[in-house]
Amino acid sequence: MRKPMIAGNWKLNKTIAEARELSGDLAKCLANFEAVDIVVAPVFTSLAAVQEMIKGTAIKLAGQNCYPEETGAFTGEVSPLMLKDAGCEYVIIGHSERRQLLEESDTFINQKIIKALEAGLKPILCIGETLQERENGDMLDVLANQVKGGLANLSATHMADVVIAYEPVWAIGTGKTASDEQAQEAHSFIRGLLQGMFTKEVAFATRILYGGSVKPSNVDGLMAQDDIDGALVGGASLKAEDFIRLVRFEK
Ligand code: G3P
Repeated sequence: MRKPMIAGNWKLNKTIAEARELSGDLAKCLANFEAVDIVVAPVFTSLAAVQEMIKGTAIKLAGQNCYPEETGAFTGEVSPLMLKDAGCEYVIIGHSERRQLLEESDTFINQKIIKALEAGLKPILCIGETLQERENGDMLDVLANQVKGGLANLSATHMADVVIAYEPVWAIGTGKTASDEQAQEAHSFIRGLLQGMFTKEVAFATRILYGGSVKPSNVDGLMAQDDIDGALVGGASLKAEDFIRLVRFEK
């Protein structure tokens, strides 16, 4: 069975001192908690400080983004190689905020995924429909395009290191979580896509996280769904006690 993952996407929050404090609190409580893969994704400027606090614990480090080049004249960017060098094991790619604000295309996202894998990082590919797309009945087409575009040119072997995060845009930061049934429906569809693109084994083994207003009040119901393997958490990852409760979800 797939090992659950609870990942905290801190987004544009926490100074280095605040990041040190939060990661220190998490390390104290979760240092040896192996039942779940625990991931934290601070802003780039805090990676070194957080890595220092979580080193030797069960908590893994992630970047919130990367640029699909190793080194060179790409002002302001951070490469998979540099994230690896900073101690990252994972990298979030294609978050809806970047798709919306920076117009990141599926092709560009795919390039990032390939470069991240080449650097030895495990990509967390974010997908999800907007409320308009859901209400227009386009959700499944949107998800299919994002999965096929984001995972183009990958082999079944590559997929061993890929995590997918289904984050309905209308649930992000809104407090409007998808219902357990809505999330399960989307996850089951995504898993079916993977079987068609790769193999039954890949579809079965790939972890699909849910993201979008995950809170201590709704995490247990979501995690009870067959095809939900974890959560990618924004707001509730910024408070140690909330994030710890999510990690310690009850099935
Ligand atoms: O990447 C996770 C994030 O988009 C979810 O944010 O605040 O709704 O948990 P939030």
